[in-house]
Amino acid sequence: MAEVLNIVTVCGSLRRASFNAALQRALPALAPAGLSIKPAPAWADIPIYNHDIQDAGWPAPVTAWADALRAADGLIIVSPEYNWTIPGGLKNAIDWTSRLKNDPFKGKPVALQSCAGGLLGGARMQYHLRQSLTSVEAVMLIRPEVFVTFAAKKFDEKTLELTDQATKDMVKLQLEAFEKFVRKQTGK
Ligand SMILES: Cc1cc2nc3c(=O)[nH]c(=O)nc-3n(C[C@H](O)[C@H](O)[C@H](O)COP(=O)(O)O)c2cc1C
Repeated sequence: MAEVLNIVTVCGSLRRASFNAALQRALPALAPAGLSIKPAPAWADIPIYNHDIQDAGWPAPVTAWADALRAADGLIIVSPEYNWTIPGGLKNAIDWTSRLKNDPFKGKPVALQSCAGGLLGGARMQYHLRQSLTSVEAVMLIRPEVFVTFAAKKFDEKTLELTDQATKDMVKLQLEAFEKFVRKQTGK
C-alpha cells in the first residue's frame, strides 16, 4: 500500500469565527485515506518583514513555520481575499520564508482554497497567490479549483461546521486530485 502523505494546511485568516479556518478544520474528514492533513503552526507572531530583523537572527515563528512546511509532502492554503488580493499577514509569512536558504515552498506541491462573503469566492486572491508562489517555485495544482462563495450560507451559524453538500463534494474532488498530484511530484 502507498504511504500516507503528510499534508499541512495554512489558513490566511486569524479571525476566531473564520469561515476559512472552518473549512481548514473540515478537510481531514473530507480527505482520501492516503492523506494525513494537519494545520501548520500559526504565522500570527511572524513580524513584518525587515531585513534588519533577519540580520539580527531569524525569528523563531518564521523558522517554526518554515520547518513545518518543509517537512510536509504538500500544502493546502485556505485563505480569504482582502481587497482583491492576498491577506497581508499571509503574504508577509511567504516573504519571510522566501529569504531562507532552503525555501520550504521551492518544489512544494500546493493546492489553494478560499471562502469569501461574496460572489467571487476569493478568486482574485487565488490568482495573485498563484503568481507569488510561482516566484518561489512552488508547484501548484491547477484544477479542480475550490472557491466557496457566499460563505455564511455554507457553514452552520453556531458551530461553523461545513454543511453545504455541493461544497463538500467540490473539496473532496480537489483533495483526491491533490493526492495524485503530490504522489506524482514526490514519487511517493
Ligand atoms: C480587510 C478586508 C478586506 C476584504 N476584502 C474582500 C475582497 O476583496 N473580496 C471578498 O470577496 N471579500 C472581502 N472581504 C470579506 C471577506 O470575504 C469576509 O470577511 C470573509 O468572511 C473573511 O474570511 P474569514 O471568515 O475566513 O475571516 C474583506 C474582508 C476584510 C476584513
